[in-house]
Amino acid sequence: MKDNGNEIYFERAKRVLVGGVNSPVRAFKHVGGTPPVIRRGKGARLFDVEGKEYIDFVCSWGAAILGHAREEITESIARTAADGASFGALCDKEAELAELVLSAFPDAGKVRLVSSGTEAVMTAVRLARGVTGRSKIIKFSGCYHGHSDAVLIEGGSGAAQFSAYGGLTAGMAADTLVAEFNDEKGFNELFCANKDTVAAVILEIIPCNMGVVLPEPAFLKIVEGLCRRYGALLIADEVITGFRFGYTGAARLYGLNPDITTLGKIIGGGLPVGAIIGRDEVMNCLAPEGKVYQAGTLSGNPISVAAGISQLSILKNTPAVYEKLARLSAHLNDRLKTIFSEEANDNKNICKNRAVKGGMKAICVNGNYAATELYIGKTATVNSIGSLHTVFIGRTAKVRNYADAKACLRDGYAEYFRNVFGKGFYIPPSQFEACFLSVAHTDDDIDAYADAVKAGL
Ligand SMILES: Cc1ncc(COP(=O)(O)O)c(C=O)c1O
Repeated sequence: MKDNGNEIYFERAKRVLVGGVNSPVRAFKHVGGTPPVIRRGKGARLFDVEGKEYIDFVCSWGAAILGHAREEITESIARTAADGASFGALCDKEAELAELVLSAFPDAGKVRLVSSGTEAVMTAVRLARGVTGRSKIIKFSGCYHGHSDAVLIEGGSGAAQFSAYGGLTAGMAADTLVAEFNDEKGFNELFCANKDTVAAVILEIIPCNMGVVLPEPAFLKIVEGLCRRYGALLIADEVITGFRFGYTGAARLYGLNPDITTLGKIIGGGLPVGAIIGRDEVMNCLAPEGKVYQAGTLSGNPISVAAGISQLSILKNTPAVYEKLARLSAHLNDRLKTIFSEEANDNKNICKNRAVKGGMKAICVNGNYAATELYIGKTATVNSIGSLHTVFIGRTAKVRNYADAKACLRDGYAEYFRNVFGKGFYIPPSQFEACFLSVAHTDDDIDAYADAVKAGL
């Protein structure tokens, strides 16, 4: 194992892969240094080609809610792979994954499985246009819904970090209207000015791709209400939030009833999967039942489906999983609270915790993991909800939307990142992302991480 193994491998990768990576944020372009080249993961740990160990707070951007290489999942993948990877025909496990998904979303009647969150959203948008016969969609700046043209405009995540909006046409942009998140007035005006042409409003109920932003429940209700009043569909993009706060979606936490929900990440157990779900009459507009076309060579492939079944079965049948996530989240929040109160030297900069009202109690095991927290210190602000959080460096006021998130110090984040990463914690190499806790983390991991956050600040 060479000491400079990461560098050697990354140089090799750069010769043949664009920027050395297959997804831009992985390149560490804005935080500097050489990205670790991961050889394997186990539980909450990643190990690079130099044998260095990291405590992972990226968790495959949320997919690895149970940690890496969970035995039940890897065994199921291996068993299934031995029988063949893909057949181009209905396989004997696809309905089981669909049933597991639907059991968490009682208002949905049908599922279409695809291979990524991007694909799920792309299909959801086309479906909404097909159902309503209208052309425009409204999205919120800083929300990321994958990289298909219609939703990349003003998209968060890597697109925000790199300001990489090239290749989007004016025609496409004309059909995508953009509003500011948590801005009732702006949204209302935009919607009402276009009410006859809006096919759908798409949102991350809890935005995670401009960093974590806490939604105002009243704002969400207004979004849903205008959709109902003017006959537009509400698309909840729950690619990150689906199955994150309990065996359901964030829509339940806020008492929303979306027409279409998109899923990904967790439902694939770490393998490529996405899903579109909705009521029968909406979903049946997809081919072969309806006129909205969508297809995929590898859609519902047996290996991804088996991994998804395995992960969802554990989540569904083991209440201890969400209990532990809740406990770890509460532990981290306690630590953050102390750090920020010490930093501020008194308690006045700690905003009151705001619990999400509505259906939360019904699905929370201890009432804690959907509690939202906000800490404003002298050097940063933290938004945290359940097992998701973001430290906004240089921001000493609330972060309620993309404009607030962009007011952070990106160079400051780079420095903060290098500090925390240098101590052995793999956190997002970009300000515009969420940190994820997994069930594989321990209280010691959380304490060590909190110490690193404190030092990083
Ligand atoms: C909310 C949301 N929607 C869609 C996507 C796209 O999913 P994928 O990367 O699987 O294409 C992401 C990816 O992070 C996401 O966070």
